[in-house]
This record gives sequence, structure tokens and C-alpha cells, in this order.
Amino acid sequence: MSLLDIKNLTLEIDSASGWIKALDKASFTLADGEIRALVGESGSGKSLIVRAIVGALPDNWRITADRMTWKGQDLLSLDQQERREILRNDIAVIFQNPKQSLDPSCPLGEQLEEVIADNNVEGRFFWQKRQSRQRIAANLLHKVGIKDHRLCMQSYPHQLADDICQKFMIAMALASEPKLLIADDPTRGMEVTTKVQILKLLTRLNQIRQLSILFVSHDLLAISSMAHTMTVLYCGQTVETGPMEQLKRRPFHPYTKALMDSAPSFRKDLPPKSPLLAMDGTIPTLQHLPIGCRLGPRCPRAQRECVKMPEVRRVHSHYYSCHFPLHRSNKA
Ligand SMILES: Nc1ncnc2c1ncn2[C@@H]1O[C@H](COP(=O)(O)OP(=O)(O)O)[C@@H](O)[C@H]1O
Ligand code: SF4
Ligand SMILES: [Mg+2]
Repeated sequence: MSLLDIKNLTLEIDSASGWIKALDKASFTLADGEIRALVGESGSGKSLIVRAIVGALPDNWRITADRMTWKGQDLLSLDQQERREILRNDIAVIFQNPKQSLDPSCPLGEQLEEVIADNNVEGRFFWQKRQSRQRIAANLLHKVGIKDHRLCMQSYPHQLADDICQKFMIAMALASEPKLLIADDPTRGMEVTTKVQILKLLTRLNQIRQLSILFVSHDLLAISSMAHTMTVLYCGQTVETGPMEQLKRRPFHPYTKALMDSAPSFRKDLPPKSPLLAMDGTIPTLQHLPIGCRLGPRCPRAQRECVKMPEVRRVHSHYYSCHFPLHRSNKA
């Protein structure tokens, strides 16, 4: 059974021009111990998926899905308390801009000690418990590669560099011993050596602790070397999903190919709405979505049929939605 199973997730946002499908039938699964990359240009809906999973959505947005389960449990039918329970025990999330997720007025040591689960703390008296929490916190910091744990624990968020803060966030995330870590573009804006360190750290955690990771990323080259599977999102729709090696070697969807061909330029942290090197135009706004396949106006293979939304097609564990896929001998 998959840990996370999302089928046809649709998210509608109320706008001045009516309800808009910001996510339209997004689907993917995540197995125990799997690293799945979730990629797509800025504005494609990656963070909305993360927010839908953790339930951080405004009340007036409409969310539906054929299936959205965590270990077989229907996430959409849980109340806030039950959802919070899963988040506390099983799922941890880290974001870009780690400093924004930390309390600026509290030393980091206190913030970390606070999230360590009581049942992991040893000792009878408060001072014994305090020492035990400090030991666990120091251990967690060493695990994520922060050598000077004392300095880190005494510091406030603004006193540390971004990369140390991101490592600290990963330590906070690990404190609850989660099954799944969702990392929403955690290396955006970092320099290459720091990015590599964070990616290596996450890969190690996956290998040693069987931690499953949903890695949302704009940096396709980096993520493609660590992820086992990949889901490509365009304008709120999953256009292709499958084993990483297959998508790299033989992508069926023109958008996946364009993303791959443009990958080196992604490393430069381009601002939102920058054109892809390998494809004309930019991603449309939600207010101006094309009819049928949302890639239509930019797609070099588009034909008249593309005004109809393509069905999801499947070759083994490789799924794609395109009327005229690449590397397939005839129209699918
Ligand atoms: N709070 C919001 N209100 C209205 N539209 C939003 C909101 N958050 C995101 N969107 C829209 O949803 C789309 C997807 O956003 P997002 O998930 O943040 O993209 P990504 O993470 O892939 O860059 C964008 O077009 C964005 O404008
Ligand atoms: S369905 Fe048509 S427009 Fe969409 S990706 Fe395929 S060929 Fe291009
Ligand atoms: Mg985002």
C-alpha cells in the first residue's frame, strides 16, 4: 500500500471571474522509502498540492479528490484535530525561506527542544528531562551536519546563515521521527555547494532511515540524481509521472522534454514567469487558461485534437496525458 495516494485532486479558487481550477485532477502516489520529485515551472501548483496535503487552505476554497489517503486513511474526511495528529506524528514539512518559519524572538535551542516528543525524553525529574532534551537536540543537529551545536542552540534565527537555518529546519522536522518529509523547494536561492550539501543530507536520511520524501523542486538537474520517481505538473495538471530514469531517458510528454532540455537554466533561480529555454511562451495565469490541454498554445506538437483534454494513458508504471506523445510510434 502507498503511504500517500492522491487521485484526481482538484482545487478550486474563488476569483473575480468565478471559480478557477488551480489544480485539475492532479494524481500521484508515494511509497514507503521513496523519493518523489514534484516539478514544474513557477506557478504550476506545486505548493498548492503541498498545502492540500497538510490541510493549510482557506475555508472558501473547494477541494475534491477521487482519493486522497495517508496510509489508507481518507485525509479529506478528517477533522482538524485528526489531521494535526497525522502531521505531528507522521508528516513533516520544510519550506524555502527557513527563517520565516522560525520564531525570531526565541533561541533556536528552545524551539528545537520544544518539538521533541515527550516519549523520547528520559529522566524522572525536570532537570533530568531537560538534559535529555538537550542531548537529543544536539544529536539531531549533528545528524544534519551542524557541528557547533552549542552556538546554533544559543543563536536566534537572524544570526545564522540561510543554509544553517535550513539544516536546522530539517533537524526540527526529524525531531518527530516522521515517515514522510515534504520539502517545498528548500534550496531555492542557495548557492550550489550549499544546495549539494542539503540534497546529500536528504538522500542520506532516505537511505539510513527509510524516510520518504516528496521533494518539490525547480532544480531539475539536482533532483533528477536523487529522486526515484518524478511527477511533472503544468498549470495545475499532472502531465506525466513515473520512474525517474524513464522520464529522463524517454519522456512521453512534450512539456517534460522541454523541462529536461531547459534544466541547466533552472539552476540560475529564474524569477517566476521566465520563459523556458526549450519552449516558447510562459505559463498562463489561472484567469486565462486555454481550453483542453493547457499546454496547447506553447506546444510544438499541438494539433486540432488538443482542444480536447487528453486522457491519462499508461505504459506500466509510467503515466502521461498527451494526444501526440513523443517516443510512441502512433497516436495513443
Ligand atoms: N492564495 C492564493 N490566492 C489565489 N491564487 C493563488 C494563491 N496561491 C496560489 N495561487 C495561484 O495558484 C497557482 C499555483 O501556485 P503555486 O502552487 O504557489 O505554484 P508553484 O508552487 O508551482 O510555484 C498560481 O497561479 C498562483 O497564482
Ligand atoms: S495534448 Fe497536444 S498540446 Fe497537449 S502536450 Fe500533447 S501535443 Fe501538446
Ligand atoms: Mg511554490
